[in-house]
Amino acid sequence: MPRKLFVTTALPYANAPFHIGHMMEYIQADVWVRAQRMQGHAVHFVCADDAHGAPIMIAAEKAGKTPQAFVAEIAAGRKPYLDGFHIAFDHWHSTDAPENHQLAKEIYLALRKNELIASRTIEQFFDPVKGMFLPDRYIKGECPKCGAKDQYGDNCEVCGAVYAPTELKNPYSTLSGATPVLRSSEHYFFMLSDPRCVAFLEQWTGDGRLQPEVANKVREWFAKDEQGNGGLGDWDISRDAPYFGIEIPDAPGKYFYVWLDAPIGYLASLKAHLGERFDTFMADPEVEQVHFIGKDIVTFHTLFWPAMLKFSGRKVPSNIFVHGFITVSGEKMSKSRGTGISPLRYLELGLNAEWLRYYIAAKLNAKVEDIDFNPDDFAARINADLIGKYVNIASRAAGFIGKRFGGMLAADVGVEGRTLLDGLRAHRDTVVELYNEREFGKGLREIMALADRVNAFVDLHKPWELAKKPGQDAVLHDVCTVCIEAFRLLTIYLKPMRPALAA
Ligand code: 2FM
Ligand code: ZN
Repeated sequence: MPRKLFVTTALPYANAPFHIGHMMEYIQADVWVRAQRMQGHAVHFVCADDAHGAPIMIAAEKAGKTPQAFVAEIAAGRKPYLDGFHIAFDHWHSTDAPENHQLAKEIYLALRKNELIASRTIEQFFDPVKGMFLPDRYIKGECPKCGAKDQYGDNCEVCGAVYAPTELKNPYSTLSGATPVLRSSEHYFFMLSDPRCVAFLEQWTGDGRLQPEVANKVREWFAKDEQGNGGLGDWDISRDAPYFGIEIPDAPGKYFYVWLDAPIGYLASLKAHLGERFDTFMADPEVEQVHFIGKDIVTFHTLFWPAMLKFSGRKVPSNIFVHGFITVSGEKMSKSRGTGISPLRYLELGLNAEWLRYYIAAKLNAKVEDIDFNPDDFAARINADLIGKYVNIASRAAGFIGKRFGGMLAADVGVEGRTLLDGLRAHRDTVVELYNEREFGKGLREIMALADRVNAFVDLHKPWELAKKPGQDAVLHDVCTVCIEAFRLLTIYLKPMRPALAA
C-alpha cells in the first residue's frame, strides 16, 4: 500500500542565510523523501520561514527596516541554496502568511474552548527606555552567586549557577543599557499540566514513535518527585506589544509567543501548497505526519506541538525524527554566525552539491548523534567511494560501448555477469529498509560493498586489455555490458543522494 506522507523540516528563523547545519537537516529529509517517492509513496514535503519573535523584530529595527521587509529579504535569498543542493520541497512558505494567522487563531480558540487556556498576571523586567518587556536574553548583570559581571539573565558562564533574571545584581538591558524595572502583565498559558494533556502525552511519547533516546529524555520531563513537584508545567504562550507576531483573539496588545505559531507554520505551508484539498488531506487517517528536527527543539515538538494538535481536534504527528548537530572540523556551530564554509560559497567554488549530500548522508544514522564535517575526510571519502568505486565502473566500460559497439549493450550476458547482477538486485530490500530507517551510513556501506564486487569483476576481466586482443570482441561486449548494467543498478541505489547524476 502506498503511504501518504506529510513531511517537514524545522522552519528556519528568517534572520540569517542558511548555514551547513540547515543544509544537513534538509539533506537528511530530502534523501528520505526521495527514497519514499521511489517506492511509490506519495509525499508532500514543505517548509517555511519562521518569521516572528523579538530577535527578528530587534534585528529589523537595527537594520532600519520593517520586520516584514526584513524577513522578505531573507526569504528572497533561500532559492539558490535549495535549488543548488537539490532540496525538493514542494512548497516554501512563511509563518507571517495569512494561512498561518488564521490557523494559529483557530487552534488557540479550539484550545480555549477545551478549557486549556489560563490567564495569570506575572512580573517581568521591562525596559523603560525601549518601552518593552525584555526577553531573558536581553538582560545582563552580575551573577548573584559569584558576582561575575555581564552574565546573562538565566545562567552564569563563570560559575555555572542557574537563576531567574530578577536575581541578577545591577541588571541592565542590553538593548538600551537602562536599568530594567519590574512590571506586571497578564499572560496566557497553555495548560500542559492539565491531566488530559499529561495522559495524552505519556501515551503519545511512550508508544514507540520516538527514537528510544528521545523517549527516555521526555520521560524525565514527566517525572514528579515525592512532594509532587516537577512534571509538566503550563506554557506561557503570550507576549506583550511591541512584538512581531500574531495577535491573540480578544486580547488587544497581546501576541502569540513565536513558538506557538511556528509549528503551525507546517500546516500553513501545506495549506498554501494543497489549497482546497488541505482539509480532506489532513482528515485522512492514513496520512502520516513526520517532522525532521534538531536535538535542540525536542520539547516543542514532543510536548507542546502534539498537545496543541490533539486538543484542537487535529491529526497528531506520527514521528519526530531528531538528529544531532554538525560540527566543522570539530568546531561547534554557532546558530547565528554559522561556521566554516558557507553552503553558497561551496557552490560558487564549483564543488558538486551531490558530494556534500553524499558525505553528509554517509555520516548520518537514525540516532541523535553529532556528526563532523572535515574537509580532508570529505575529499578522501568522495575520491575513494564516488570516484574510485562508483564512477570507475562506468568509466571503464562506457567508452568501449560507444566506440566499439555503436552505443549498444549486448542482448544477453554470460553466467558470471548474470550472477553478479542478480547479486546486486538481491540487495534491493536491504537498501530500501536502510533508507526507510534513516540508516544512510549503513546503506551507503552496503552499496559500496556491492560496488567493490563489481570492481573485482572489472579487475578480473580488464576490459582495457580485452580491447587490444584480437577476436575478443564478444567477451569485451559482455564485460562492458555487465559493467553498465551494474552501474545503472548502483545508480538507482544512490539516487536519493545523487538525484542529478541519476537523471
Ligand atoms: O530553532 C529554530 O530555528 C526554530 N525557528 C525552529 C522552528 S520549527 C517549527 F516549529 F516551526
Ligand atoms: Zn557566577
